[in-house]
Amino acid sequence: MSEQAETLSITDNRTGRTYELPITDGAVRAAGLRDIKVNNDDFGLLSYDPAFTNTASCRSAITFIDGDAGILRYRGYPITELAEKSSFLEVSYLLLAGELPGSAELETWESEITHHTLVHESIKKFVDGFHHDAHPMGMLVSTVGALSTFYPDAKEIADPGLRRLQIVRLIAKITTLAAYLYRHSVGFPYVYPDNDLSYAGNFLNMMWKATELKYEPDPILEHVMDVLFVLHADHEQNCSTSAMRAIGSSQADPFSAAAAAIAALYGPLHGGANEQVLRMLSEIGTVENIPSYVASVKDGKKKLMGFGHRIYKNYDPRAKLVRGLADEVFKVTGTNPMLDIAMELERIALSDEYFISRRLYPNVDFYTGIIYQAMGFPVEMFPVLFAIGRMPGWLAQWEEGLLDSEQKIARPRQLYIGYGERPYTPMENRSPVADDDVEPIAAQAAQAAPARPLR
Ligand code: SDX
Repeated sequence: MSEQAETLSITDNRTGRTYELPITDGAVRAAGLRDIKVNNDDFGLLSYDPAFTNTASCRSAITFIDGDAGILRYRGYPITELAEKSSFLEVSYLLLAGELPGSAELETWESEITHHTLVHESIKKFVDGFHHDAHPMGMLVSTVGALSTFYPDAKEIADPGLRRLQIVRLIAKITTLAAYLYRHSVGFPYVYPDNDLSYAGNFLNMMWKATELKYEPDPILEHVMDVLFVLHADHEQNCSTSAMRAIGSSQADPFSAAAAAIAALYGPLHGGANEQVLRMLSEIGTVENIPSYVASVKDGKKKLMGFGHRIYKNYDPRAKLVRGLADEVFKVTGTNPMLDIAMELERIALSDEYFISRRLYPNVDFYTGIIYQAMGFPVEMFPVLFAIGRMPGWLAQWEEGLLDSEQKIARPRQLYIGYGERPYTPMENRSPVADDDVEPIAAQAAQAAPARPLR
């Protein structure tokens, strides 16, 4: 077969003109569509892709996912090997630096993180300002964003040394903030970091230390916590990472960008799903109630939280690993009755045509909540644990975006479907608009006017 040209030939049937777009790395550049015009002064064609289901926003070397094969690799290393053989701080280093650290680099890295876990004492003042029942994700968005006011040098995003300092601060301090938020919600005193402990062990210390002089984490729970952080560390261009990159593209500081990423993660369709899974399992209550719940999902009335994924059309490899960790945790905590409901729900869903036809499999959030609950975390803290694990991934993606010479401030286009120009209507000529008319009017506008070509 002759050498096939890596190009796309497009014929515009409005003009009969043909265009050749180069195909690079399995993609065509959307900007190339702008040359396709009817009249020379036309804006040219746009690509339209709501929710970016088929749009690559960047070139990245950090995480590779093959959704059909259920493959996830950080910098080429399979998630199964990293979960079994690595540690969260080593994986954080890998995501950020691109290579596994030598023993000296790892020791330095761990020491840097350990010695940045303290937060400014003023942080306590505004954590105390929240209601006792404030959702910890709402508090986390606020406190991480507020950290930017303590570190004005974080704005120097072009300085590699200062970027690394903020990266260390964010990975280190998010555990302290998370624990402070929990302690505030239960009226317990804040616990200072213990530099003798590992990253996960210190987090458990700041969460659970009571009156003992020195908290000693259960080694199994400490290990499981660390592995769960590894499993959440990055996941290519998910919603919250896209938010991190978009905010970073305006050259805002990384604390502000991380606050936006946490806000995106808060959503029940994203990181908030692990909390919703537990609420769903509690609502189902017993194995006997599963069929009626599944029926309500198939009627479109509810979603099967913890199932489905934009990329994985096979079993999320992380879900399998999390399921395995549950048995380790239950040896220490005793089993969680929700597990029986979850396993039966999974069995039914994986054999039901509705879910099979939509390729809905358990995702990372399906089993994590059961483990977190068994470990004593309240459901509201579940997405906070996700945020702790995802922080190094957000930061690695943020920095990769900043250093990518092709990137600039993120600013998508739109297809305008609103009104054309119309004169201002004096008050006396306006007809009263009842409250419930607003939606229909907006909907009418959305339907009435076809998209107006850009000039
Ligand atoms: C995470 O992107 C990432 O990588 C995210 C993440 C990460 O590590 O960053 O992996 C973490 O967010 C995991 C996902 C956690 N969310 C949930 O578990 C919430 C429940 N799942 C869904 O809402 C949904 O599956 C999404 C949001 C995860 C993915 O949605 P998509 O890709 O937009 O798919 P879709 O909504 O277009 O669904 C396709 C069809 C639809 O049915 P039809 O309209 O074609 O009849 O599948 C149905 C959906 O209604 N569907 C579900 C369902 N998920 C999709 N039906 C019931 N229950 C579900 N969970």
